[in-house]
Amino acid sequence: MTAAAPEPKANMGQPVPRYDAHSKVTGRATYASDMPLANPAYAFLVTSAIAKGRVDGFDLAEARAVRGVIDIVTHENAPKLKESKLFSNGGYAGTTIQPLKSPDIAHDGQIIAVVIAESYEAAREAANRVKVNYTVAAPSATFDSPGTTTAAAKGQNSQFKEDPKVGDFAKAFAAAEIQLTAAYDTPTQHHNPMELFTTSCAWIGDDLVIYEPSQYVHGLKNGVAEQLGIDADKVRVVNPYVGGGFGSRGSMTPRTAIIAGIARRLNRPIKLVATRDQGFTITTYRAETRHEIKLGASRDGKLVALRHEGAEVSSRPDAYCVGGTKTTTRLYACPNVDSLVSIVRADRNTPGFMRSPPEVPYLFALESAMDELAVKLDMDPVELRRINDTTNEPIGGKPYTSRSLMACFDEAAKAFGWSQRSSQPKSMAEGDWLIGYGCAATCYPTQMGPAAARVRLQRDGRTRVEIAGHEIGTGAYTVIAQTAAERLGVPLEKVAVFIGDSDLPPAPVAGGSNSTASTCSAVMMVCDQIRQRLFKAVMPDSLTDKAKETVGISQAPTTQAAKSNRPLDIEKAFDALGVSVVEEYGEWKPEGAPLDSFKAMHSGHVRLVGGHQMQDKIAYAFGAEFVEVRVNRFTHEIRCPRLVGAFAAGRIMNPRTARSQLMGGLIWGMSSALLEATEIDERNARYVNDNLADYLVPVNADVPGVEVILLSEQDDHINPAGAKGLGELANVGTNAAICNALYHATGQRIRKLPVRLENIEV
Ligand code: MOS
Repeated sequence: MTAAAPEPKANMGQPVPRYDAHSKVTGRATYASDMPLANPAYAFLVTSAIAKGRVDGFDLAEARAVRGVIDIVTHENAPKLKESKLFSNGGYAGTTIQPLKSPDIAHDGQIIAVVIAESYEAAREAANRVKVNYTVAAPSATFDSPGTTTAAAKGQNSQFKEDPKVGDFAKAFAAAEIQLTAAYDTPTQHHNPMELFTTSCAWIGDDLVIYEPSQYVHGLKNGVAEQLGIDADKVRVVNPYVGGGFGSRGSMTPRTAIIAGIARRLNRPIKLVATRDQGFTITTYRAETRHEIKLGASRDGKLVALRHEGAEVSSRPDAYCVGGTKTTTRLYACPNVDSLVSIVRADRNTPGFMRSPPEVPYLFALESAMDELAVKLDMDPVELRRINDTTNEPIGGKPYTSRSLMACFDEAAKAFGWSQRSSQPKSMAEGDWLIGYGCAATCYPTQMGPAAARVRLQRDGRTRVEIAGHEIGTGAYTVIAQTAAERLGVPLEKVAVFIGDSDLPPAPVAGGSNSTASTCSAVMMVCDQIRQRLFKAVMPDSLTDKAKETVGISQAPTTQAAKSNRPLDIEKAFDALGVSVVEEYGEWKPEGAPLDSFKAMHSGHVRLVGGHQMQDKIAYAFGAEFVEVRVNRFTHEIRCPRLVGAFAAGRIMNPRTARSQLMGGLIWGMSSALLEATEIDERNARYVNDNLADYLVPVNADVPGVEVILLSEQDDHINPAGAKGLGELANVGTNAAICNALYHATGQRIRKLPVRLENIEV
């Protein structure tokens, strides 16, 4: 294991301890689910036991007889709500399936009634006594189920505009010296954050306060207002800490407006705690995917043809799609590329963002296929990546703003001891254990979104930073505080950060790993506004405008551009201004953001830019992952004693929190290969293992050794902070690295996740 706080290298911030470490370990960090309400009533959901059909009627007599029951809300008496479009189609919602609107059932586990009672226990008891009469229709569960429909994703989903292609794939593949065709499958997965899907709603007159774990307080605020038909300024969403997100809280779920509507009708605060199993169906998830990869190469390992075809499951009404071909078609140099993504509609809840949505399943396919190609070529898989490394992506020929892929491979290979690997499968063993070494590349788009911030500096250096970012466990408080301290030249202890509240200046969804780049860039800009005001006060005429922009105060900032900065005495500047507090508000948007960016930002829409969508360049973070697996010859038990990853992501704001993020990513990546899968009963389109006993997530014993290596990288072409997102970087590719290592250990190629001991045939 590397040290908990790695020494910062070039272009890295200080590894300061977490801003919220003390509050978290002492239990003083208040999560939305912890917020106390005055005289609350409690809600418990009743969810559908069928996946397709309709509710013919309820028998509520027994439920109503439970002591403490206040009301039972069904489609017959539910508050009327307006519809919201899908998040990925310009709306706020994770699904357009709006429960309690009609007797129709679109998926298993859909909300069909809400019991309100004086206590949680009474609400639960009554919910269990609700009797439902259904008309049942046969549902389509997944791929190959009768009744599904399939169509190209392009044109159905506004976030997936085209199937990338270039050159003439068919011709080049047919003529290629080496050809590989292989199919890969990834399973359904659910986020399962620790904090349950709770919602508390309290009205004060016409004003609504919502306490709910959310990755996007401004989106939720505007979405709920839209559904209730009220002014968005009447709604406030508060969640200073979020107990895990993983994408599950980026878009609005139907529960929130339902609870808000009932609370308004009953004129009483309501607290809903959805159970763990309900969380599998009332929110989104990662849908199962299928892939076919075709690679054509010359004998010396140069790719000449690449085709990636993917299929994803979505719900009947919604064309959710992750479409990872936008990344897999651009990762390696190749003159002839083709791709196609299809959406298969089934009777399921609508899937959504989950931990690097496009790259986790799509790079599993590509990075497994690259390993298979290396085997066919009898070539070291690291060398195959080196031969096909590129400075320009092949589809549009745009240059990467920076690309440290091979540097990551070299560093990680050295730390892992890759040179000790004997290349033949089944050639390494220790006692009963077959040993396998495997590796894979990772990459993740560098994304940014418009953000606003307010910063207040007092004469004594005390600083208050306000921005509606989100602490989902990533270190958001910490890097925002560091940014302000560094930029204003005040001690870190004097900076107070306020996030997780929609009354604060808007920031983007904490998704797509954009948060650090977006929020820190906005905070830097507003701190500079303060700096300029102070400088004007002390040196009104002595500086050119350009010099004022770059000059620092009190202590020299660490950025290279500011090395020659002249220090400024804050107290003297305040005296000259004749005030004791300076406050600035500012709105920052990344280069290339559309014209309506700020308007959209204030109405809870995100205009993320970056990745492959930039005008004349392409921005990604890169990494390389090496794993050791051990497979017991007799029991086929699979262990993963070592995960080693090297990553480059522009400026590392804080090596300590970055390391934690990347370590978590590697662990989730291992988990996506060996543990996580939601099983579906295909007869009734129902999730089977919808609990934390049967849905496997990694524990410490599953990951004895995780090593994170941070590479220095400077990128001046992405954003003022110079930071690339890394939250979702490390869990991409790891699943392929594991299967590649399993092939090395056993000689068996496994193309379907997850891999369990029953899948090992040697
Ligand atoms: Mo992440 S799945 O973009 O919250």
